[in-house]
Amino acid sequence: MALAADLRSGIMMMPVLDSDSLEVLAFRLDAEPEAIRAIGDCLSEDEFRRAEVLRLERDRRRFVATRGQLRHLLASRLGVLPSDVELEYGRVGKPCLSRRMPDQSLRFSVSRSEDVAVIALSKAREVGVDIEAVRPVPETDDIAALCFSAPEYESYRNLRPEERLEGFLRSWTRLEAISKAFGCGLGGPFPSNERDFTVITFVPKPAYIGTVVVRN
Ligand SMILES: CC(C)(COP(=O)(O)OP(=O)(O)OC[C@H]1O[C@@H](n2cnc3c(N)ncnc32)[C@H](O)[C@@H]1OP(=O)(O)O)[C@@H](O)C(=O)NCCC(=O)NCCS
Repeated sequence: MALAADLRSGIMMMPVLDSDSLEVLAFRLDAEPEAIRAIGDCLSEDEFRRAEVLRLERDRRRFVATRGQLRHLLASRLGVLPSDVELEYGRVGKPCLSRRMPDQSLRFSVSRSEDVAVIALSKAREVGVDIEAVRPVPETDDIAALCFSAPEYESYRNLRPEERLEGFLRSWTRLEAISKAFGCGLGGPFPSNERDFTVITFVPKPAYIGTVVVRN
């Protein structure tokens, strides 16, 4: 697969999906301190404040790397400087381009899990993405019973025990991706039909599972 466009950020992005209407790019977060400092240069005051209150250095580094990379990617598509990308936030925190940006039809969604992050980009279609590292989750049965729809829960229960973790993570990332596309948060309710979305499962890196949804 070809490498992503040169973003001059120092952290390499790999295309995971690339079509006319939808792109998903993945990158590692645990880069060298100089790379993190360089990419973090473009963050806004608010974003620096957000990073500062994170207790763990690892979380600060991962937040800065993700947000810096998002700014570089959006800037490269908008033809502006990364530090000039202006973001706004919805009622429960969904980020989007400010009305002052040259092209607000560019939609994006971001997810990170452990040392990997992904950014999904779409032109004019609402998009949501979520990834999870495949690692044991002790409460899968309880979460599935609480959060999955009845047919989804039944499919999950019908999986063989050794398939359950991945089956759970596929459904979970789908749910998170749809809630991000709507911007409503996991508490929902979803404002329109989930069937309005195309759902794609992908592997951003071995031992990770991701789902991206894009409005039809
Ligand atoms: C954000 C959320 C959708 C997923 O978070 P997560 O899986 O823990 O973390 P991810 O890394 O996959 O996604 C985080 C990114 O999603 C984006 N995001 C945050 N809120 C969002 C929202 N409401 N809609 C869409 N995207 C959102 C941001 O880009 C965020 O990145 P940042 O932390 O660098 O700013 C989830 O926490 C959520 O539903 N929050 C909304 C508030 C809410 O419902 N609270 C619970 C009430 S019961």
